[in-house]
Amino acid sequence: MRIAVLTETDANEARVAATPDTVKKLVGLGATVVVQSGAGAGSGVTDADYEAAGATIAPDAPGAAGDADVVLLVRRPEGERLAAIKEGAVVVATMDPYGNEAALQAMAERKLSAFAMELMPRITRAQVMDVLSSQANLAGYRAVIDASAEYGRAFPMMMTAAGTVPAARVFVMGAGVAGLQAIATARRLGAVVTATDVRPAAKEQVESLGAKFIAVEDEEFKQAETSGGYAKEMSAGYKAKQAELVASHIAKQDIVITTALIPGRPAPTLVTAAMVESMKPGSVVVDLAVERGGNCELAKPGEVVDHDGVKIVGHLNVPGRLAATASSLYAKNLLAFVETTMVDKEKKALAVNWDDELVKATLLTKDGAVVHPNFQPKAA
Ligand code: NAI
Repeated sequence: MRIAVLTETDANEARVAATPDTVKKLVGLGATVVVQSGAGAGSGVTDADYEAAGATIAPDAPGAAGDADVVLLVRRPEGERLAAIKEGAVVVATMDPYGNEAALQAMAERKLSAFAMELMPRITRAQVMDVLSSQANLAGYRAVIDASAEYGRAFPMMMTAAGTVPAARVFVMGAGVAGLQAIATARRLGAVVTATDVRPAAKEQVESLGAKFIAVEDEEFKQAETSGGYAKEMSAGYKAKQAELVASHIAKQDIVITTALIPGRPAPTLVTAAMVESMKPGSVVVDLAVERGGNCELAKPGEVVDHDGVKIVGHLNVPGRLAATASSLYAKNLLAFVETTMVDKEKKALAVNWDDELVKATLLTKDGAVVHPNFQPKAA
């Protein structure tokens, strides 16, 4: 069983799919691990660290992946990285599958068994493999740190001889994994925190973190959660009522952090240009949904926009801004998935359990075809 770890090629990607810690465990499972030279550089891991953990180093992607049965990546392989992987190999990555049908087809044509970690079911057994949670948690933390760096004032209330500094007012929109961590982080820094979400279950979680919950709590709101625990697309009527409530609230905030996502759909617009214009100069909006279309109308992917003195922060790949921590958690998610569903521990060999529900839920392509029901090519 040969496992390869490749260097990420996206300019915004500093993470890596294995750490010395997970390499050691993969070697313990009987794998020969080959790491592409420099793969860990963005996360502070040297080639020597990987070697010390039992890996060998290959100079380039073909050298690392040419013979590998399993390839571990952060992002979907394309171009040269895709060409470097041998036909029939297992590839595990975050595949960003929605709206990228052509890229899925390209992996199918290479006859890869491609697994999308972000499709992992959110069941207890798979919690340790949940990359959305491990990365969103860090993004939520980092959003507050990024907000505080852009904000020209302090977060906590300070009573000093020279006068009292008021606490910052922070409003978190979307109280899932990222939002809850943003709330906790902003509270630790001493801000006065409020939050909103369309899922009723979020209210108690927000309040348990010491923040105030702000939402239109009508009948639609009470039904607004799917059986999988995700948000539903809300009606135009609900959105209008929510927008009205939120508009008056945002005008009084110093920091707004938006994290609202709906799986497989563009992010909902929650902060309009008019709402931004109602904020005081010096205020900051951090849009964590910017890569999925954005929650703030004025957010631009990869930019910090200054709109009449209000900064709108649209950093790409926010977990990657904490690459070392993000890699260590992501690598553990991948290790757990490979160990649980793909390895015969007695024979120390690759043995994908194709009947495992986690395998079925995440498998995108196999034997030359796109096999996942959500991404079937449309009938002509
Ligand atoms: P997400 O990243 O898909 O969305 C972030 C948040 O935005 C969600 O809380 C969603 O309700 C909210 N949102 C969507 N539209 C909105 C709107 N118009 N206005 C305000 N908020 C809006 O969600 P995430 O963070 O992945 O979590 C979704 C759910 O899954 C949560 O209930 C979470 O607790 C649960 N979960 C369960 C796990 C498990 O059981 N193993 C693991 C992780 C999360």
